[in-house]
Amino acid sequence: MMLHSRIFLMLFAISTVVTIFTASIVSSSMGLSIVKFFPTFCARNANSHLIVTTEDTSDMSKIDYNDVDFLSYELEHQIIQLLGDEVDSVHKMEDIYPGQGRLKGSYDKHMQLNSNSHFLRYRHTVLMPFLRKKVAGWQLEIFYNSMFESFWPKMRVLLKTWAENRRFEPQIMQHLAQYVKRPIDESYSSLQQTDTGTRKRYRTCAVVGNSGILLNSSYGGAIDQHEMVMRINNARTVGFEVFVGRKTTISFMNSHIIRTCAKRSHCWCHPYGAIVPIITYLCAPWHFMPIAFCSSEHRAPLLVTDPRFDNLCNRIAKWYSVKLFLRRPNMKPGWWSILRNPKRQFHYSTGMQGVMMALGLCDNVHVYGFGKATGLKHHYFSQQSEELKEIHDYKAEYEFYHDLEHNNTQLLPFFKAAGITSLPNFRLLM
Ligand code: C5P
Repeated sequence: MMLHSRIFLMLFAISTVVTIFTASIVSSSMGLSIVKFFPTFCARNANSHLIVTTEDTSDMSKIDYNDVDFLSYELEHQIIQLLGDEVDSVHKMEDIYPGQGRLKGSYDKHMQLNSNSHFLRYRHTVLMPFLRKKVAGWQLEIFYNSMFESFWPKMRVLLKTWAENRRFEPQIMQHLAQYVKRPIDESYSSLQQTDTGTRKRYRTCAVVGNSGILLNSSYGGAIDQHEMVMRINNARTVGFEVFVGRKTTISFMNSHIIRTCAKRSHCWCHPYGAIVPIITYLCAPWHFMPIAFCSSEHRAPLLVTDPRFDNLCNRIAKWYSVKLFLRRPNMKPGWWSILRNPKRQFHYSTGMQGVMMALGLCDNVHVYGFGKATGLKHHYFSQQSEELKEIHDYKAEYEFYHDLEHNNTQLLPFFKAAGITSLPNFRLLM
């Protein structure tokens, strides 16, 4: 009997080790387009640093959210390298990256110039014997011709300012009107020759998410009635006007989209019209290169969100995610980062940050296209049925929106610290 249970324990231990090993190889080498060598904030690794100061899991205020500020070693290192004195050009950056220690041996450099000859792309591939194929591990693109070289100094200035602002300062919410609305108003005034007025806040705002839930109603007309309409990640509107409307005041996106736009001639990134301002949040330090390039090509402002604002969004998203996680039986906060999802990555969704932005800019916020249900398409414009990477905690974010609907600042984490005493009227339209 004893022998049986020992054998059983040994087999169990071996299978656990094999499973963890396999999972870590698979998760680190499949399905990621840029990650690994240049991992991104927008899929931040959530596997460490959850500092729990108490075992009393019912009291969320005792959980420390500092970890969401920490960058992975690779990202901190990347900032240092991009800002360092020794790297003063794209070519030097190219010299630096190929030799990075732990990638030696498996490093596989391909020079793939795209049709515009703007990029040098490095690809790292891993042979997966049991899958009998090579899969892409990480990918790095360097903006590699004389055209991009000239944006190197601008990229460094932008990155330096950004990096200096990385801290928890939730009062940043009070300054969004000044940092965001004002330059946008000025741009519309000069490009459209119209007076957009001097109001600090928009009267009514529609934040349009991309959920397939939009196809269940015909909100297009109602959306277009708002003074400010925010769309997310360049989602298509043509052909869907009945459901999503035509008007766009602000185009909000993650910096991967800018990176993709930069590959197009003149950084074409405006499906809603050339005068629509773009707001983006940074997913990787080197994205300031495409941002520097695109901002010079874009007629309207291209704004990057303040890292203090990103930090606040991240904390709120995590607060709700941990809260939800603790509803599972017998869970402890410290297990959140390991057990929440198989990839152990976490980031707020772009739409959630758009909603936060609207809270700082608007008197009335109406939110459309945020919702999930069985049978619904993930995006109204595609056949995709699920989120691809599971880095967002949608359920947790929906809880946040429901709390916003109840308009109770006491319920909302970090809002007191942000100095928010009264909230805009908030409605989630499903
Ligand atoms: O997928 P994508 O990020 O482009 O969608 C924009 C936003 O819409 C998301 O970041 C998310 O906040 C919201 N969304 C949602 N439910 C979906 C799809 C998107 O709430 N099924």
